Amino acid sequence: MIEVEQLTKEYAGQAAVRGVSFKVGRGEIVGFLGPNGAGKSTTMRILACYLPATSGRARVAGFDVFEQSLEVRRRLGYLPENVPIPAELRVDEYLSYRAALRGLSGNRARARVAAAKEQCALGDVGRRIIGQLSKGYRQRVGLADALLHEPDLLILDEPTIGLDPEQIAQVRDLIRSLGERHTVLLSTHILPEVEAVCSRVIIIHRGRIAAQGTPAELTEQAHAATHIRIEAKPPAGAVDAAALLAALPGVEAVERVTGGAGEWRHFELRAAAGMDPREEVFRLASARGWTLREVSRRQPSLEEVFVRIIHSGEGEVNRES
Ligand SMILES: Nc1ncnc2c1ncn2[C@@H]1O[C@H](COP(=O)(O)OP(=O)(O)OP(=O)(O)O)[C@@H](O)[C@H]1O
Ligand SMILES: [Mg+2]
Repeated sequence: MIEVEQLTKEYAGQAAVRGVSFKVGRGEIVGFLGPNGAGKSTTMRILACYLPATSGRARVAGFDVFEQSLEVRRRLGYLPENVPIPAELRVDEYLSYRAALRGLSGNRARARVAAAKEQCALGDVGRRIIGQLSKGYRQRVGLADALLHEPDLLILDEPTIGLDPEQIAQVRDLIRSLGERHTVLLSTHILPEVEAVCSRVIIIHRGRIAAQGTPAELTEQAHAATHIRIEAKPPAGAVDAAALLAALPGVEAVERVTGGAGEWRHFELRAAAGMDPREEVFRLASARGWTLREVSRRQPSLEEVFVRIIHSGEGEVNRES
């Protein structure tokens, strides 16, 4: 659905996107991640035909975004970073106007406005003035606008920015349901959001692709550590429990210890990549007469993975510093 090859964009000689290549298949929900200034919005604007690239190629549904932009726009709904919605219009007026701009008229236009409103749960605010709506509702008006012409592909630039947790959850559910019928490329800084809705992630950093894959593949690629949390009560006078744990095979380090002798104590172990020392922990506890009430494994979060991937490329020149 999206094919990007060696895409480069320079603003006044400064490269914002440098030789980026990736693909998004039909029906995928792909998360576009990266720190501020990474080039996410620039790439999305190029895909949405709002900005010409300096070099490289981008195609949407097989159509070139530079040479066949009308065909591309017909198949694509775009929610820009800052949705420019006129505050003085009513929701229905705005959506009808946008439908007309897209060449829809009469019953067809009315039916599409109603359907997009329903998809975005805007049913009861049609008569409200946009400027008086909450930010979450305004965001949904932007989404409804992007859906009016039934595009195959949705490009959503930070669709949940500035929303409260409840609205974030609502917009996230909405995106997930949109993903049943549309291909979605969305950018965000909220990593749990990516884990909740995206089947695949592309991480961009300083204009280049730093990594891509499913969240599980990225976790593996980043060699991010698995942590084992233990709550145990070694008998009074026992030898140093932390040292015994640190000596177990597969344990790289004992990172945190709380509690004193003869009491319940917490230990946090860092396991070597691909290792799971939980069995060894149980054996040690039983051999030493410790009472155990928790041995649990915490997989690295996408957040840790993200930070590791971004920092592993830190050797390069930083043109903004
Ligand atoms: N119109 C412009 N003129 C000049 N430089 C620009 C322009 N738009 C973006 N840039 C620069 O291009 C780089 C990439 O910006 P972009 O907006 O694509 O980043 P982003 O990944 O969307 O960041 P954010 O997470 O902050 O939205 C930044 O260094 C930015 O300063
Ligand atoms: Mg941006």
